[in-house]
Amino acid sequence: MKKVRVLPPATVANVVCGFDILGFALNEPCDEFEVEITEEPGVRIVNLDEYNLPTDPEKNVSGAAMLAMLEETPDIKGCIIYSKKIIKPGSGIGSSAASAAGVVVGLNHLLGNRFSNADLVRFAMFGEKVASGVKHADNIAPCIYGGVTLIRSIFPLDIVSIDAPPLYATVVHPQIEVRTADARQILRQKVLLKDAIKQWGNIAGLVAGFLKKDYDLIGRSLEDVIIEPVRSILIPGFDEVKKRSKDAGALGGGISGSGPSIFMLSKDELTAKAVAKEMEEVFIKIGIDYHTHVTSINSQGVKIIHSA
Ligand code: HSE
Repeated sequence: MKKVRVLPPATVANVVCGFDILGFALNEPCDEFEVEITEEPGVRIVNLDEYNLPTDPEKNVSGAAMLAMLEETPDIKGCIIYSKKIIKPGSGIGSSAASAAGVVVGLNHLLGNRFSNADLVRFAMFGEKVASGVKHADNIAPCIYGGVTLIRSIFPLDIVSIDAPPLYATVVHPQIEVRTADARQILRQKVLLKDAIKQWGNIAGLVAGFLKKDYDLIGRSLEDVIIEPVRSILIPGFDEVKKRSKDAGALGGGISGSGPSIFMLSKDELTAKAVAKEMEEVFIKIGIDYHTHVTSINSQGVKIIHSA
Protein backbone atom coordinates (compact mmCIF):
# COMPACT_ATOMS: atom_id res chain seq x y z
CA MET A 1 0.00 0.00 0.00
CA LYS A 2 1.57 3.28 -1.14
CA LYS A 3 -1.14 5.90 -0.81
CA VAL A 4 -3.71 6.81 1.82
CA ARG A 5 -6.38 9.45 2.29
CA VAL A 6 -6.96 10.96 5.73
CA LEU A 7 -9.45 13.38 7.29
CA PRO A 8 -7.85 15.15 10.26
CA PRO A 9 -10.46 16.98 12.38
CA ALA A 10 -10.59 20.51 13.73
CA THR A 11 -9.82 20.81 17.42
CA VAL A 12 -10.48 23.23 20.27
CA ALA A 13 -7.35 23.92 22.30
CA ASN A 14 -7.16 25.29 25.86
CA VAL A 15 -10.84 24.47 26.63
CA VAL A 16 -11.01 27.85 28.40
CA CYS A 17 -8.98 27.26 31.57
CA GLY A 18 -6.34 24.77 30.32
CA PHE A 19 -3.99 26.98 28.31
CA ASP A 20 -1.62 24.72 26.33
CA ILE A 21 -2.66 21.59 28.28
CA LEU A 22 -6.27 20.70 27.30
CA GLY A 23 -7.96 20.14 23.96
CA PHE A 24 -10.73 18.21 22.27
CA ALA A 25 -11.46 17.09 18.72
CA LEU A 26 -14.57 18.09 16.73
CA ASN A 27 -16.51 15.93 14.30
CA GLU A 28 -16.60 18.82 11.83
CA PRO A 29 -14.91 20.40 9.94
CA CYS A 30 -12.06 18.13 8.73
CA ASP A 31 -9.22 18.68 6.26
CA GLU A 32 -8.44 16.23 3.47
CA PHE A 33 -4.92 14.98 2.82
CA GLU A 34 -3.41 12.22 0.74
CA VAL A 35 0.01 10.81 1.53
CA GLU A 36 1.90 8.82 -1.08
CA ILE A 37 5.23 7.03 -0.57
CA THR A 38 7.60 7.67 -3.49
CA GLU A 39 11.09 6.76 -4.67
CA GLU A 40 11.77 10.47 -5.12
CA PRO A 41 13.74 11.62 -2.02
CA GLY A 42 12.29 14.27 0.30
CA VAL A 43 8.80 15.70 0.70
CA ARG A 44 6.83 17.21 -2.18
CA ILE A 45 3.70 19.23 -1.42
CA VAL A 46 0.85 19.58 -3.87
CA ASN A 47 -1.75 22.18 -2.85
CA LEU A 48 -5.31 21.38 -3.93
CA ASP A 49 -6.95 24.44 -2.38
CA GLU A 50 -6.90 28.21 -2.68
CA TYR A 51 -4.77 29.00 0.38
CA ASN A 52 -1.43 29.13 -1.43
CA LEU A 53 0.46 27.64 1.52
CA PRO A 54 4.26 27.31 1.15
CA THR A 55 5.41 24.26 -0.82
CA ASP A 56 8.89 24.29 0.69
CA PRO A 57 8.48 21.42 3.19
CA GLU A 58 10.60 23.17 5.82
CA LYS A 59 8.23 26.15 5.76
CA ASN A 60 5.04 24.11 5.45
CA VAL A 61 3.34 22.74 8.58
CA SER A 62 2.62 19.26 7.19
CA GLY A 63 5.99 19.23 5.39
CA ALA A 64 7.92 19.96 8.60
CA ALA A 65 6.04 17.22 10.48
CA MET A 66 6.70 14.76 7.66
CA LEU A 67 10.41 15.63 7.48
CA ALA A 68 10.67 14.92 11.23
CA MET A 69 9.00 11.54 10.72
CA LEU A 70 11.19 10.64 7.72
CA GLU A 71 14.28 11.23 9.91
CA GLU A 72 13.19 8.11 11.81
CA THR A 73 12.12 6.06 8.78
CA PRO A 74 15.35 5.46 6.82
CA ASP A 75 13.62 2.78 4.73
CA ILE A 76 11.34 5.43 3.14
CA LYS A 77 12.95 7.74 0.59
CA GLY A 78 10.24 10.33 0.31
CA CYS A 79 6.60 11.13 -0.07
CA ILE A 80 4.09 13.43 -1.72
CA ILE A 81 1.49 15.28 0.33
CA TYR A 82 -1.70 16.28 -1.49
CA SER A 83 -3.21 19.00 0.68
CA LYS A 84 -6.80 20.18 0.61
CA LYS A 85 -7.39 22.53 3.50
CA ILE A 86 -11.00 22.93 4.60
CA ILE A 87 -10.13 24.33 8.04
CA LYS A 88 -9.07 27.88 7.27
CA PRO A 89 -5.56 28.71 8.51
CA GLY A 90 -5.66 31.18 11.41
CA SER A 91 -9.19 30.25 12.46
CA GLY A 92 -8.37 29.06 15.99
CA ILE A 93 -9.73 25.56 15.49
CA GLY A 94 -6.45 23.77 14.95
CA SER A 95 -5.84 24.22 11.23
CA SER A 96 -2.08 23.78 11.54
CA ALA A 97 -2.47 20.80 13.88
CA ALA A 98 -4.79 19.10 11.38
CA SER A 99 -2.15 19.56 8.64
CA ALA A 100 0.64 18.17 10.80
CA ALA A 101 -1.31 15.36 12.46
CA GLY A 102 -3.09 14.24 9.28
CA VAL A 103 0.05 13.48 7.30
CA VAL A 104 1.94 11.68 10.06
CA VAL A 105 -1.09 9.50 10.84
CA GLY A 106 -1.36 8.82 7.09
CA LEU A 107 2.27 7.76 6.70
CA ASN A 108 2.07 5.69 9.88
CA HIS A 109 -0.89 3.82 8.42
CA LEU A 110 1.14 3.07 5.27
CA LEU A 111 3.94 1.81 7.54
CA GLY A 112 1.65 -0.66 9.33
CA ASN A 113 1.31 1.58 12.42
CA ARG A 114 4.99 1.37 13.29
CA PHE A 115 4.84 4.39 15.59
CA SER A 116 2.81 5.05 18.75
CA ASN A 117 0.37 7.96 19.00
CA ALA A 118 2.84 9.71 21.31
CA ASP A 119 5.55 9.41 18.61
CA LEU A 120 3.14 10.90 16.07
CA VAL A 121 2.44 13.84 18.39
CA ARG A 122 6.21 14.34 18.69
CA PHE A 123 6.58 14.49 14.87
CA ALA A 124 3.53 16.69 14.39
CA MET A 125 4.78 19.24 16.92
CA PHE A 126 7.50 20.18 14.40
CA GLY A 127 4.63 21.46 12.27
CA GLU A 128 3.23 23.56 15.13
CA LYS A 129 6.70 25.07 15.56
CA VAL A 130 6.56 26.27 11.94
CA ALA A 131 3.05 27.67 12.46
CA SER A 132 3.42 29.52 15.76
CA GLY A 133 7.10 29.38 16.69
CA VAL A 134 6.36 27.13 19.68
CA LYS A 135 5.83 23.40 20.10
CA HIS A 136 2.47 22.93 21.79
CA ALA A 137 0.35 19.77 21.64
CA ASP A 138 -3.10 20.84 22.77
CA ASN A 139 -4.47 20.72 19.21
CA ILE A 140 -2.29 17.89 17.91
CA ALA A 141 -2.96 15.44 20.74
CA PRO A 142 -6.78 15.53 20.46
CA CYS A 143 -6.50 15.48 16.64
CA ILE A 144 -4.51 12.22 16.84
CA TYR A 145 -6.05 10.56 19.92
CA GLY A 146 -9.61 11.87 19.48
CA GLY A 147 -11.80 12.97 22.40
CA VAL A 148 -10.59 15.20 25.20
CA THR A 149 -6.88 15.08 25.95
CA LEU A 150 -4.74 16.44 28.74
CA ILE A 151 -1.10 17.21 27.99
CA ARG A 152 0.29 16.76 31.49
CA SER A 153 3.79 17.43 30.21
CA ILE A 154 5.30 18.24 26.86
CA PHE A 155 8.99 17.51 27.60
CA PRO A 156 8.82 14.59 28.17
CA LEU A 157 5.49 14.02 26.46
CA ASP A 158 2.78 12.73 28.79
CA ILE A 159 -0.67 12.66 27.20
CA VAL A 160 -3.77 11.50 29.06
CA SER A 161 -7.08 10.77 27.33
CA ILE A 162 -9.99 12.06 29.43
CA ASP A 163 -13.31 10.30 29.20
CA ALA A 164 -16.15 12.77 28.73
CA PRO A 165 -19.96 12.64 28.57
CA PRO A 166 -21.72 13.42 25.26
CA LEU A 167 -21.27 17.12 24.50
CA TYR A 168 -22.23 19.36 21.60
CA ALA A 169 -19.98 22.19 20.51
CA THR A 170 -21.03 25.37 18.77
CA VAL A 171 -18.20 27.23 17.10
CA VAL A 172 -18.40 30.65 15.51
CA HIS A 173 -15.54 31.78 13.32
CA PRO A 174 -15.67 35.52 12.70
CA GLN A 175 -13.83 36.24 9.47
CA ILE A 176 -10.99 38.20 11.02
CA GLU A 177 -7.45 36.98 11.40
CA VAL A 178 -5.66 36.48 14.72
CA ARG A 179 -2.20 34.97 14.31
CA THR A 180 -1.34 32.49 17.05
CA ALA A 181 2.16 33.93 17.30
CA ASP A 182 0.68 37.41 17.96
CA ALA A 183 -1.92 36.07 20.39
CA ARG A 184 0.92 34.45 22.37
CA GLN A 185 3.11 37.52 22.19
CA ILE A 186 0.59 39.70 24.07
CA LEU A 187 0.28 37.37 27.06
CA ARG A 188 1.77 38.36 30.39
CA GLN A 189 4.70 36.22 31.48
CA LYS A 190 3.81 36.39 35.19
CA VAL A 191 0.64 35.27 36.95
CA LEU A 192 -0.62 36.37 40.36
CA LEU A 193 -0.89 33.57 42.89
CA LYS A 194 -4.58 34.33 43.53
CA ASP A 195 -5.29 33.96 39.78
CA ALA A 196 -3.24 30.77 39.58
CA ILE A 197 -5.26 29.30 42.46
CA LYS A 198 -8.53 30.06 40.67
CA GLN A 199 -7.18 28.67 37.41
CA TRP A 200 -5.92 25.35 38.75
CA GLY A 201 -9.18 24.96 40.69
CA ASN A 202 -11.01 25.32 37.40
CA ILE A 203 -8.73 22.93 35.48
CA ALA A 204 -9.08 20.28 38.16
CA GLY A 205 -12.85 20.94 38.28
CA LEU A 206 -13.17 20.63 34.51
CA VAL A 207 -11.27 17.34 34.35
CA ALA A 208 -13.26 16.00 37.32
CA GLY A 209 -16.47 17.21 35.64
CA PHE A 210 -15.64 15.31 32.45
CA LEU A 211 -14.76 12.13 34.31
CA LYS A 212 -17.78 12.27 36.64
CA LYS A 213 -20.02 13.29 33.71
CA ASP A 214 -21.17 16.19 35.87
CA TYR A 215 -22.42 18.84 33.43
CA ASP A 216 -22.89 21.51 36.13
CA LEU A 217 -19.32 21.09 37.32
CA ILE A 218 -18.10 21.31 33.69
CA GLY A 219 -20.06 24.54 33.25
CA ARG A 220 -18.78 26.08 36.51
CA SER A 221 -15.21 25.23 35.63
CA LEU A 222 -15.24 26.81 32.15
CA GLU A 223 -13.68 30.02 33.48
CA ASP A 224 -10.33 31.56 32.54
CA VAL A 225 -8.94 34.36 34.69
CA ILE A 226 -5.51 34.47 33.04
CA ILE A 227 -5.57 34.28 29.23
CA GLU A 228 -9.12 35.28 28.23
CA PRO A 229 -9.05 38.79 29.79
CA VAL A 230 -6.01 39.60 27.61
CA ARG A 231 -6.91 37.86 24.37
CA SER A 232 -10.63 38.61 24.26
CA ILE A 233 -9.90 42.22 23.30
CA LEU A 234 -8.77 40.88 19.90
CA ILE A 235 -12.26 39.46 19.22
CA PRO A 236 -15.08 41.97 18.63
CA GLY A 237 -18.35 40.84 20.19
CA PHE A 238 -16.69 38.28 22.48
CA ASP A 239 -18.41 39.27 25.74
CA GLU A 240 -21.82 39.48 24.09
CA VAL A 241 -21.42 36.10 22.39
CA LYS A 242 -20.51 34.55 25.72
CA LYS A 243 -23.39 36.12 27.61
CA ARG A 244 -26.03 35.35 24.99
CA SER A 245 -24.79 31.77 24.57
CA LYS A 246 -25.03 31.09 28.28
CA ASP A 247 -28.47 32.71 28.43
CA ALA A 248 -29.50 30.34 25.60
CA GLY A 249 -28.47 27.37 27.76
CA ALA A 250 -24.81 26.70 26.91
CA LEU A 251 -22.78 25.18 29.76
CA GLY A 252 -19.99 27.64 29.01
CA GLY A 253 -17.13 28.25 26.64
CA GLY A 254 -14.68 30.87 25.49
CA ILE A 255 -11.93 31.51 22.96
CA SER A 256 -11.13 28.46 20.83
CA GLY A 257 -7.34 28.08 20.89
CA SER A 258 -5.84 31.48 20.23
CA GLY A 259 -8.99 32.72 18.45
CA PRO A 260 -10.70 34.36 16.69
CA SER A 261 -13.16 31.42 16.86
CA ILE A 262 -15.33 31.19 19.97
CA PHE A 263 -16.76 27.87 21.14
CA MET A 264 -19.54 26.91 23.52
CA LEU A 265 -20.39 23.49 24.96
CA SER A 266 -23.98 22.33 25.38
CA LYS A 267 -25.65 19.22 26.73
CA ASP A 268 -27.88 18.69 23.70
CA GLU A 269 -28.02 19.53 20.01
CA LEU A 270 -31.10 21.74 20.27
CA THR A 271 -29.35 24.06 22.71
CA ALA A 272 -26.18 24.00 20.58
CA LYS A 273 -28.27 25.16 17.57
CA ALA A 274 -29.95 27.91 19.62
CA VAL A 275 -26.48 29.05 20.69
CA ALA A 276 -25.39 29.22 17.03
CA LYS A 277 -28.31 31.54 16.32
CA GLU A 278 -27.30 33.89 19.15
CA MET A 279 -23.70 33.94 17.94
CA GLU A 280 -24.78 34.69 14.38
CA GLU A 281 -27.00 37.58 15.52
CA VAL A 282 -24.07 39.19 17.33
CA PHE A 283 -21.83 39.14 14.24
CA ILE A 284 -24.65 40.27 11.94
CA LYS A 285 -25.20 43.21 14.29
CA ILE A 286 -21.54 44.26 14.30
CA GLY A 287 -21.16 43.58 10.57
CA ILE A 288 -18.48 40.89 10.54
CA ASP A 289 -18.84 37.83 8.29
CA TYR A 290 -18.79 34.53 10.16
CA HIS A 291 -19.10 30.77 9.80
CA THR A 292 -20.74 28.63 12.46
CA HIS A 293 -20.46 24.91 13.12
CA VAL A 294 -22.74 22.85 15.34
CA THR A 295 -21.01 19.56 15.98
CA SER A 296 -20.04 17.09 18.69
CA ILE A 297 -16.85 15.76 20.24
CA ASN A 298 -14.98 13.45 17.87
CA SER A 299 -13.77 10.39 19.73
CA GLN A 300 -11.85 8.86 16.82
CA GLY A 301 -9.24 11.45 15.82
CA VAL A 302 -7.84 11.39 12.27
CA LYS A 303 -10.07 9.29 10.05
CA ILE A 304 -8.47 7.04 7.44
CA ILE A 305 -10.93 6.72 4.61
CA HIS A 306 -9.26 5.25 1.59
CA SER A 307 -6.15 3.34 0.70
CA ALA A 308 -4.88 2.48 -2.77
N1 HSE B 1 -2.63 26.69 23.25
C1 HSE B 1 -2.38 27.43 22.04
C2 HSE B 1 -2.60 28.90 22.31
C3 HSE B 1 -3.31 26.94 20.98
O1 HSE B 1 -3.62 29.23 22.91
O2 HSE B 1 -1.76 29.71 21.92
C4 HSE B 1 -3.13 27.65 19.66
O3 HSE B 1 -4.07 27.14 18.76
